[in-house]
Amino acid sequence: MSESALNLENIVVAFGALKAVDNVSMTVKRGERRAIIGPNGAGKTTLFNAITGVTRSTSGRITFEGLDISRKPAQSRARMGISRTFQITNLFPSLTVEQNMQLALRGTGSRKFSMLGSARLVSEEREQVASALALSRLATREAVEVTELSYGEQRQLEIAMALVSRPRLLLLDEPAAGLSPAERQMVTDIVRSLPKDLTVVLIEHDMELVLKLVDYVTCLNNGQMLAEGSPEEIRANQLVQDVYLGKARANA
Ligand SMILES: Nc1ncnc2c1ncn2[C@@H]1O[C@H](COP(=O)(O)OP(=O)(O)O)[C@@H](O)[C@H]1O
Ligand SMILES: [Mg+2]
Repeated sequence: MSESALNLENIVVAFGALKAVDNVSMTVKRGERRAIIGPNGAGKTTLFNAITGVTRSTSGRITFEGLDISRKPAQSRARMGISRTFQITNLFPSLTVEQNMQLALRGTGSRKFSMLGSARLVSEEREQVASALALSRLATREAVEVTELSYGEQRQLEIAMALVSRPRLLLLDEPAAGLSPAERQMVTDIVRSLPKDLTVVLIEHDMELVLKLVDYVTCLNNGQMLAEGSPEEIRANQLVQDVYLGKARANA
């Protein structure tokens, strides 16, 4: 197995005349914690969609653990070990935590999708659910309906749902967006305590959180790579300050 978990070569995603992702290349090592930052519309979510296969890249090559997955459908990429959370909450509100986990598991697993309630989880599945909930600090909330969860717990559940298939690459799209300081700390603790061999790429706006969590930062602007470096280098980078931190301050 190659040492790089994820390798992007000259990825372009065009929507008509707009290049939402414009010639992005990067290599993420196995077990690395990487942040993708950049102003709204920079192409961060579109890049995640290209990696997961939700959106087909217009050109370029995506390699996961040494295999070219550029033309593979989303379902195959999920089965290969790529999992993600969404920027917008994506839960079934009237179902319990456990039922949401069951849907996440059966939706991506190799077993045929079965209707909710038609079969109890088998013991291996129960173990997967329990360990994903434990990692996401929701072990005691299995029987609770999503509507009864705090917003922070809902975001934790989304992380749990992404973890239940035991991925090797986890993509988190703004996992701390809209959270209180205490809830952000919870997300920080969760990401920090994820298994060391799990590769994590996260989109995040809060530089303080990024600095605490990741080894390396990629900054996008207008679909293009603006800068790459350690969190400290990125924080000191004049280009990044101009396009990103400046805007963040202006929006604050
Ligand atoms: N399905 C789509 N069709 C057309 N344009 C899109 C689509 N998805 C995203 N875009 C455009 O691509 C650009 C990048 O969007 P996005 O990846 O969501 O940015 P970010 O996540 O960095 O805020 C934006 O200009 C957005 O309007
Ligand atoms: Mg986005």
